[in-house]
Amino acid sequence: MSNKIKIFDTTLRDGEQAPGFSMNIQEKLRLAHQLEALGVDVIEAGFPAASPEDFESVAKIAEELTTPEICGLARCHEGDIEKTLKAIEKAKKPRIHVFIATSDIHLEYKLQMSRDEAIKRAIQGVQQAKSGCDRVDFSPEDAGRSDRQYLVEILTEVIKAGADTINIPDTVGYLTPEEFGDLIKFLHNTVPGIQDCIISTHCHNDLGMAVANSLAGVANGARQIECTINGIGERAGNASLEEVVMAIKTRPELYNAHTDINTKLLLQTSKMLQSISGNTVQINKAIVGQNAFAHEAGIHQHGLLKNKATYEIMKPDDVGWNETNMVLGKHSGKAAILARLKELGIKLNDDQVSELMANFKTLADRKKDIYDEDLIMLSLGEEPKKHYFLEGMTVNSHTGKDSTASIRLLVGKKTVDEIAKGIGSVDAVYNCIIKATGLEGKLTTFHIDAVSPEREAVAVCQITWENSDGTEIRGKGRDTDTVNAAAYALVDILNKAKIREKISPYQGV
Ligand code: KIV
Ligand code: ZN
Repeated sequence: MSNKIKIFDTTLRDGEQAPGFSMNIQEKLRLAHQLEALGVDVIEAGFPAASPEDFESVAKIAEELTTPEICGLARCHEGDIEKTLKAIEKAKKPRIHVFIATSDIHLEYKLQMSRDEAIKRAIQGVQQAKSGCDRVDFSPEDAGRSDRQYLVEILTEVIKAGADTINIPDTVGYLTPEEFGDLIKFLHNTVPGIQDCIISTHCHNDLGMAVANSLAGVANGARQIECTINGIGERAGNASLEEVVMAIKTRPELYNAHTDINTKLLLQTSKMLQSISGNTVQINKAIVGQNAFAHEAGIHQHGLLKNKATYEIMKPDDVGWNETNMVLGKHSGKAAILARLKELGIKLNDDQVSELMANFKTLADRKKDIYDEDLIMLSLGEEPKKHYFLEGMTVNSHTGKDSTASIRLLVGKKTVDEIAKGIGSVDAVYNCIIKATGLEGKLTTFHIDAVSPEREAVAVCQITWENSDGTEIRGKGRDTDTVNAAAYALVDILNKAKIREKISPYQGV
């Protein structure tokens, strides 16, 4: 009988923590619903102890979703585990994932902890987690570079303490498929009690082997894969969900396994993440890249016309490529818009539909074609007005000279006007905002991308701001105007900083 492989999606946790992929609560909820429709078994919804926003989004996802297990990540710290248990308490199927590093390099330099102390912490962590939640995953972080006998020791203890899933992370993407498969086989055959647990893989892609390593894990006894949509995640990312799922489906004779993923929703899910994050996948990305099923060479086309199997190992339909990207516009009626939303798997209540229709009309007056990507944006609704709100701005850019910008910013109840110059439009606007608010620190990353085709595309801007104390905040803005999108991203930083009280309050407010 074919083995069921659980798909543990960590797009909203490991994926979201990578620079350029931060999402707000509405965005995370939208994606979580899509992951539920896709059929993932577990959604790792976040790291509740990391920030109040993380806590809130995990709690909201736990409350709203019904089918998948909803998991929160925690270090083996009493406070982390307490917060995580609270965040997942309303889930129909709660799960908690606790971890501690086990490689000597992590123990010595990161945790400054002995091996024995780490075992003690792991047992305490798993026991505390188990006292509040029946389903407990344990991860020995950097397992790929950990001493095997030490792994056997710690895993034996956490299984006794109540862990039902043992996740083996190759945290730094160091192992080759042969090595990773061998590690899984060794643990499967050696750790007492592990035969009653699910062995899971968590492979990073630093050497481009995350998918191959995860599959080697399956071939050697793993029954769960931790992965992310489009392979997003720390540094080079995690194993890509769409790739592992399609490899298992396409080569059943190799893996004797199956997943419960509705593969026809893979493309839609990938596109939703691209729209929300503003990060498009490479054109030749397997399964979901624009060229994944395109055949250019005449000789290939000739073969395909005779028999598709000459050059196609998967049916494009099976991963959702039959869908046409329906273009809506000013004259599209409510019925057509709602029908398209339904096809995109987006469910809205009456209030959300009214808000979307009003925003649709405004956007359609400004831009001729409304694509799926635009509709996904609109369906996220408007964010409530926060402490800092950009009421208006004017920018003049001049070839070969400084640009000038003027802004009107609402700071609490006060209106602040400011003018500044800069090397280019974005620099001028950022100088205005910084002058107006006294924001300290510096911009460390700036990324802007268009998420729908054509000139009037919606742009998503993601930035990272480093505060004077070295902490970082990530901000995001979107608009059909790229300079506006960049400005909104900095205003987002201000609002997040306000919440964290990292900047001194605006003078006089
Ligand atoms: O890469 C890693 O080790 C992780 C753990 C928290 C599972 O993300
Ligand atoms: Zn990871």
